[in-house]
Amino acid sequence: MIGVYDSGIGGLSVWKELNALMPERDYVYVADSAHCPYGEKSSDYIIERADRIVRFMLSRGVKAVVVACNTATAAAISYLRRSFDIPFVGMEPAVKPAALASRSGVVGVLATANTFRGTLYRDTVMKYASDVRIVEKVGRGLVEAVERGDVPYGLIREYVDGMKEEGADVIVLGCTHFPFLEKQIAAAAGPSVRIINPAPAVAAQTRRVVDGIRDTSSGLRIREFYSTGDMQVLRRTAMSIDPTLKDCDFHQINI
Ligand code: DGL
Repeated sequence: MIGVYDSGIGGLSVWKELNALMPERDYVYVADSAHCPYGEKSSDYIIERADRIVRFMLSRGVKAVVVACNTATAAAISYLRRSFDIPFVGMEPAVKPAALASRSGVVGVLATANTFRGTLYRDTVMKYASDVRIVEKVGRGLVEAVERGDVPYGLIREYVDGMKEEGADVIVLGCTHFPFLEKQIAAAAGPSVRIINPAPAVAAQTRRVVDGIRDTSSGLRIREFYSTGDMQVLRRTAMSIDPTLKDCDFHQINI
Protein backbone atom coordinates (compact mmCIF):
# COMPACT_ATOMS: atom_id res chain seq x y z
CA MET A 1 0.00 0.00 0.00
CA ILE A 2 1.38 3.35 -1.06
CA GLY A 3 0.54 6.62 0.70
CA VAL A 4 0.28 9.78 -1.37
CA TYR A 5 -0.33 13.24 0.05
CA ASP A 6 -0.50 16.87 -0.89
CA SER A 7 -1.71 20.15 0.58
CA GLY A 8 -4.87 19.49 -1.42
CA ILE A 9 -5.96 17.86 -4.65
CA GLY A 10 -2.78 18.69 -6.59
CA GLY A 11 -1.16 15.38 -5.68
CA LEU A 12 -3.89 13.64 -7.67
CA SER A 13 -1.88 14.62 -10.76
CA VAL A 14 0.85 12.33 -9.38
CA TRP A 15 -1.57 9.65 -8.19
CA LYS A 16 -2.97 9.56 -11.74
CA GLU A 17 0.46 8.49 -13.02
CA LEU A 18 1.04 6.06 -10.14
CA ASN A 19 -2.35 4.43 -10.72
CA ALA A 20 -1.67 4.12 -14.44
CA LEU A 21 1.81 2.65 -13.88
CA MET A 22 0.97 0.38 -10.93
CA PRO A 23 -2.78 -0.31 -10.99
CA GLU A 24 -2.30 -3.45 -8.91
CA ARG A 25 -1.12 -1.50 -5.85
CA ASP A 26 -3.29 -0.25 -2.99
CA TYR A 27 -3.34 3.50 -2.35
CA VAL A 28 -4.18 5.88 0.47
CA TYR A 29 -4.43 9.53 -0.58
CA VAL A 30 -4.60 12.43 1.86
CA ALA A 31 -5.58 15.94 0.74
CA ASP A 32 -4.74 18.42 3.49
CA SER A 33 -7.27 20.85 2.06
CA ALA A 34 -8.15 22.43 5.43
CA HIS A 35 -4.55 23.69 5.61
CA CYS A 36 -4.07 24.51 1.93
CA PRO A 37 -2.19 26.38 0.53
CA TYR A 38 1.24 25.49 1.96
CA GLY A 39 3.00 27.86 -0.46
CA GLU A 40 3.77 30.66 1.98
CA LYS A 41 3.45 28.91 5.36
CA SER A 42 6.41 28.35 7.68
CA SER A 43 8.57 25.21 7.40
CA ASP A 44 7.65 24.28 10.97
CA TYR A 45 3.96 24.34 10.07
CA ILE A 46 4.48 22.17 6.98
CA ILE A 47 6.64 19.70 8.95
CA GLU A 48 4.00 19.45 11.67
CA ARG A 49 1.34 18.69 9.04
CA ALA A 50 3.64 16.14 7.35
CA ASP A 51 4.19 14.37 10.65
CA ARG A 52 0.46 14.05 11.38
CA ILE A 53 -0.41 12.95 7.87
CA VAL A 54 2.33 10.30 7.71
CA ARG A 55 1.34 8.91 11.13
CA PHE A 56 -2.24 8.67 9.91
CA MET A 57 -1.19 6.90 6.69
CA LEU A 58 0.99 4.47 8.66
CA SER A 59 -2.07 3.62 10.74
CA ARG A 60 -3.80 2.67 7.44
CA GLY A 61 -0.90 0.36 6.57
CA VAL A 62 1.19 2.20 4.00
CA LYS A 63 4.69 0.86 3.33
CA ALA A 64 5.99 3.85 1.36
CA VAL A 65 4.92 7.48 0.96
CA VAL A 66 4.98 9.78 -2.04
CA VAL A 67 5.12 13.42 -0.96
CA ALA A 68 3.15 14.59 -4.01
CA CYS A 69 3.69 18.25 -3.24
CA ASN A 70 6.76 20.26 -4.23
CA THR A 71 6.32 22.63 -1.29
CA ALA A 72 6.03 19.86 1.31
CA THR A 73 8.98 18.03 -0.27
CA ALA A 74 11.09 21.18 0.03
CA ALA A 75 10.13 21.77 3.66
CA ALA A 76 9.63 18.33 5.14
CA ILE A 77 11.17 15.40 3.27
CA SER A 78 14.47 15.44 5.18
CA TYR A 79 12.52 15.46 8.45
CA LEU A 80 10.32 12.58 7.27
CA ARG A 81 13.30 10.48 6.16
CA ARG A 82 14.98 11.03 9.54
CA SER A 83 11.82 10.29 11.52
CA PHE A 84 10.16 7.29 9.89
CA ASP A 85 11.54 3.96 8.84
CA ILE A 86 9.84 3.72 5.43
CA PRO A 87 10.90 5.04 2.02
CA PHE A 88 9.73 8.51 0.92
CA VAL A 89 9.63 9.70 -2.66
CA GLY A 90 9.48 13.46 -3.15
CA MET A 91 8.84 15.80 -6.04
CA GLU A 92 11.91 16.73 -8.09
CA PRO A 93 11.93 20.20 -9.57
CA ALA A 94 12.29 19.08 -13.21
CA VAL A 95 14.92 21.63 -14.16
CA LYS A 96 17.30 18.96 -15.44
CA PRO A 97 15.08 17.69 -18.30
CA ALA A 98 14.00 21.28 -18.91
CA ALA A 99 17.59 22.46 -19.29
CA LEU A 100 18.27 19.60 -21.71
CA ALA A 101 15.14 20.36 -23.75
CA SER A 102 15.64 24.12 -24.03
CA ARG A 103 17.03 25.48 -27.26
CA SER A 104 16.79 29.13 -26.29
CA GLY A 105 18.75 28.50 -23.09
CA VAL A 106 15.93 30.04 -21.02
CA VAL A 107 13.71 27.88 -18.81
CA GLY A 108 10.59 29.07 -17.01
CA VAL A 109 9.68 27.51 -13.66
CA LEU A 110 6.23 28.03 -12.16
CA ALA A 111 6.11 27.08 -8.48
CA THR A 112 5.24 28.34 -5.00
CA ALA A 113 7.35 30.80 -3.02
CA ASN A 114 8.38 28.07 -0.56
CA THR A 115 9.53 25.73 -3.33
CA PHE A 116 11.84 28.44 -4.69
CA ARG A 117 13.14 29.13 -1.18
CA GLY A 118 14.05 25.47 -0.55
CA THR A 119 17.60 24.18 -0.76
CA LEU A 120 16.42 21.22 -2.88
CA TYR A 121 15.43 23.58 -5.69
CA ARG A 122 18.57 25.73 -5.35
CA ASP A 123 20.84 22.65 -5.34
CA THR A 124 19.09 21.13 -8.36
CA VAL A 125 19.43 24.34 -10.33
CA MET A 126 23.10 24.62 -9.44
CA LYS A 127 23.80 21.02 -10.33
CA TYR A 128 21.83 20.60 -13.54
CA ALA A 129 20.87 23.98 -14.90
CA SER A 130 23.91 26.19 -14.45
CA ASP A 131 24.23 26.74 -18.20
CA VAL A 132 20.65 27.96 -18.76
CA ARG A 133 18.89 31.04 -17.46
CA ILE A 134 15.95 30.28 -15.17
CA VAL A 135 12.94 32.57 -15.04
CA GLU A 136 11.15 31.90 -11.75
CA LYS A 137 7.48 32.76 -11.40
CA VAL A 138 5.55 32.34 -8.17
CA GLY A 139 2.14 31.10 -9.29
CA ARG A 140 0.26 33.12 -6.68
CA GLY A 141 -3.46 32.36 -6.67
CA LEU A 142 -3.25 29.27 -8.89
CA VAL A 143 -3.36 26.63 -6.12
CA GLU A 144 -6.43 28.20 -4.54
CA ALA A 145 -8.12 28.39 -7.95
CA VAL A 146 -7.52 24.67 -8.63
CA GLU A 147 -8.88 23.85 -5.17
CA ARG A 148 -12.03 25.81 -6.02
CA GLY A 149 -12.31 24.13 -9.41
CA ASP A 150 -11.73 27.45 -11.22
CA VAL A 151 -9.55 28.16 -14.22
CA PRO A 152 -7.83 31.53 -13.64
CA TYR A 153 -7.17 32.46 -17.29
CA GLY A 154 -5.96 35.98 -16.45
CA LEU A 155 -3.33 34.82 -13.96
CA ILE A 156 -2.14 32.03 -16.26
CA ARG A 157 -1.67 34.49 -19.11
CA GLU A 158 0.20 36.94 -16.86
CA TYR A 159 2.68 34.29 -15.61
CA VAL A 160 3.17 32.63 -18.99
CA ASP A 161 3.64 35.97 -20.79
CA GLY A 162 6.23 36.95 -18.18
CA MET A 163 8.26 33.81 -18.91
CA LYS A 164 7.89 34.05 -22.69
CA GLU A 165 8.98 37.69 -22.73
CA GLU A 166 12.24 36.55 -21.10
CA GLY A 167 12.70 34.00 -23.90
CA ALA A 168 11.65 30.79 -22.16
CA ASP A 169 10.91 27.93 -24.56
CA VAL A 170 10.31 25.36 -21.80
CA ILE A 171 8.04 25.75 -18.77
CA VAL A 172 8.35 23.47 -15.75
CA LEU A 173 5.19 22.80 -13.75
CA GLY A 174 6.86 23.08 -10.34
CA CYS A 175 3.70 22.48 -8.33
CA THR A 176 1.49 19.41 -8.48
CA HIS A 177 -1.66 21.50 -8.76
CA PHE A 178 -0.55 22.95 -12.08
CA PRO A 179 -1.00 19.89 -14.33
CA PHE A 180 -4.73 20.52 -13.79
CA LEU A 181 -4.16 23.79 -15.66
CA GLU A 182 -1.77 22.31 -18.21
CA LYS A 183 -4.09 22.70 -21.20
CA GLN A 184 -4.65 26.38 -20.45
CA ILE A 185 -0.95 26.97 -19.72
CA ALA A 186 -0.03 25.28 -23.02
CA ALA A 187 -2.66 27.32 -24.88
CA ALA A 188 -1.33 30.57 -23.37
CA ALA A 189 2.27 29.57 -24.17
CA GLY A 190 1.65 28.49 -27.75
CA PRO A 191 3.09 25.58 -29.73
CA SER A 192 6.74 26.70 -29.57
CA VAL A 193 6.90 26.24 -25.79
CA ARG A 194 7.27 22.81 -24.22
CA ILE A 195 5.56 22.13 -20.88
CA ILE A 196 7.23 19.69 -18.49
CA ASN A 197 5.17 17.88 -15.86
CA PRO A 198 7.45 15.91 -13.50
CA ALA A 199 4.67 13.54 -12.34
CA PRO A 200 5.45 10.63 -14.74
CA ALA A 201 9.12 10.67 -13.69
CA VAL A 202 8.12 10.67 -10.01
CA ALA A 203 5.79 7.71 -10.63
CA ALA A 204 8.63 5.83 -12.35
CA GLN A 205 10.94 6.57 -9.42
CA THR A 206 8.24 5.35 -7.00
CA ARG A 207 8.03 2.08 -8.90
CA ARG A 208 11.78 1.61 -8.57
CA VAL A 209 11.49 2.25 -4.82
CA VAL A 210 8.50 0.00 -4.12
CA ASP A 211 9.87 -2.79 -6.30
CA GLY A 212 12.39 -3.26 -3.51
CA ILE A 213 9.66 -3.82 -0.91
CA ARG A 214 7.87 -7.14 -0.50
CA ASP A 215 4.48 -6.79 -2.19
CA THR A 216 1.79 -6.94 0.49
CA SER A 217 -0.97 -5.39 -1.68
CA SER A 218 -4.36 -6.86 -0.90
CA GLY A 219 -5.11 -7.70 -4.52
CA LEU A 220 -8.38 -5.85 -3.94
CA ARG A 221 -7.15 -2.58 -5.47
CA ILE A 222 -7.93 -0.60 -2.33
CA ARG A 223 -8.25 3.14 -2.91
CA GLU A 224 -8.90 5.29 0.13
CA PHE A 225 -9.17 9.05 -0.24
CA TYR A 226 -9.15 11.33 2.79
CA SER A 227 -9.57 15.07 3.05
CA THR A 228 -9.10 17.35 6.03
CA GLY A 229 -11.30 19.88 4.20
CA ASP A 230 -13.72 20.04 1.28
CA MET A 231 -14.61 16.53 0.08
CA GLN A 232 -16.54 17.55 -3.02
CA VAL A 233 -13.59 18.77 -5.05
CA LEU A 234 -11.46 15.76 -4.04
CA ARG A 235 -14.23 13.34 -5.02
CA ARG A 236 -14.97 15.08 -8.30
CA THR A 237 -11.33 15.30 -9.36
CA ALA A 238 -10.38 11.76 -8.32
CA MET A 239 -13.45 10.35 -10.07
CA SER A 240 -12.59 12.24 -13.24
CA ILE A 241 -9.24 10.39 -13.18
CA ASP A 242 -10.68 6.99 -12.26
CA PRO A 243 -14.43 6.64 -12.88
CA THR A 244 -14.49 3.25 -11.14
CA LEU A 245 -14.07 4.96 -7.74
CA LYS A 246 -17.11 4.87 -5.48
CA ASP A 247 -18.55 7.32 -2.95
CA CYS A 248 -17.53 5.00 -0.13
CA ASP A 249 -13.84 5.44 -1.11
CA PHE A 250 -13.93 9.04 0.20
CA HIS A 251 -13.68 10.05 3.84
CA GLN A 252 -13.38 13.21 5.87
CA ILE A 253 -10.66 13.22 8.55
CA ASN A 254 -9.73 15.56 11.31
CA ILE A 255 -5.99 15.22 11.99
N1 DGL B 1 0.66 21.01 -4.75
C1 DGL B 1 1.50 21.84 -3.93
C2 DGL B 1 2.90 21.90 -4.53
O1 DGL B 1 3.24 21.07 -5.34
C3 DGL B 1 0.83 23.15 -3.67
C4 DGL B 1 1.47 23.93 -2.58
C5 DGL B 1 0.54 24.82 -1.83
O2 DGL B 1 -0.35 24.31 -1.15
O3 DGL B 1 0.73 26.03 -1.90
O4 DGL B 1 3.72 22.73 -4.19
